[in-house]
Amino acid sequence: MADKRSPRQKSTATGIQLVPLEAGHIPAIIEIEKQSNSSPWSERSFVNELDHPYGVFLVAVADGRIVGFGGVWIMIDEAHVTTVAVSPDHRRRGIGKRIVSALLDAAQARGTTCATLEVRASNTAAIGLYEDLGFVRSAVRKRYYPDNREDAVVMWKHD
Ligand SMILES: CC(C)(COP(=O)(O)OP(=O)(O)OC[C@H]1O[C@@H](n2cnc3c(N)ncnc32)[C@H](O)[C@@H]1OP(=O)(O)O)[C@@H](O)C(=O)NCCC(=O)NCCS
Repeated sequence: MADKRSPRQKSTATGIQLVPLEAGHIPAIIEIEKQSNSSPWSERSFVNELDHPYGVFLVAVADGRIVGFGGVWIMIDEAHVTTVAVSPDHRRRGIGKRIVSALLDAAQARGTTCATLEVRASNTAAIGLYEDLGFVRSAVRKRYYPDNREDAVVMWKHD
């Protein structure tokens, strides 16, 4: 849904801390995930990110509260953004962009030269965020998502 606040009313991602995922974060993350994704990740999927051999998973914290998260897998020279979500009451403040930028920086520091992801074709908010960060639409995977057979847009960013 489009954000109705004027730019002057907008707060920013200042004051947000990004920290590596810990086991204690997972219950709060699952709540945000349920509010954000029509086909949410399982608890097991998040637990797997705790010691993922080629993953980086960051949690955004504001005033001691978890407000977002995101992950990336590093596949040799490619960064695959696996997930990102921001709590509905903290959206449109730059937090999603901060999370994805930090994931890409972490991946680049480990040697990636490009990044890719899939996003539901109807997800204009996420597509807007990724385009803001320099991703471009590269392909469409027809009926990719099993829950509603929605197309996936494949996006790439080359450093
Ligand atoms: C996608 C999501 C993570 C964006 O998080 P966010 O913190 O609200 O995003 P930001 O405030 O950092 O937005 C950065 C830019 O993305 C674009 N954008 C973000 N939300 C948008 C929206 N609702 N409509 C249009 N563009 C949007 C804008 O270009 C925005 O810049 P601007 O605010 O200066 O115009 C958030 O909407 C979310 O959690 N959605 C549900 C989960 C999801 O869809 N994840 C992506 C799976 S691929």
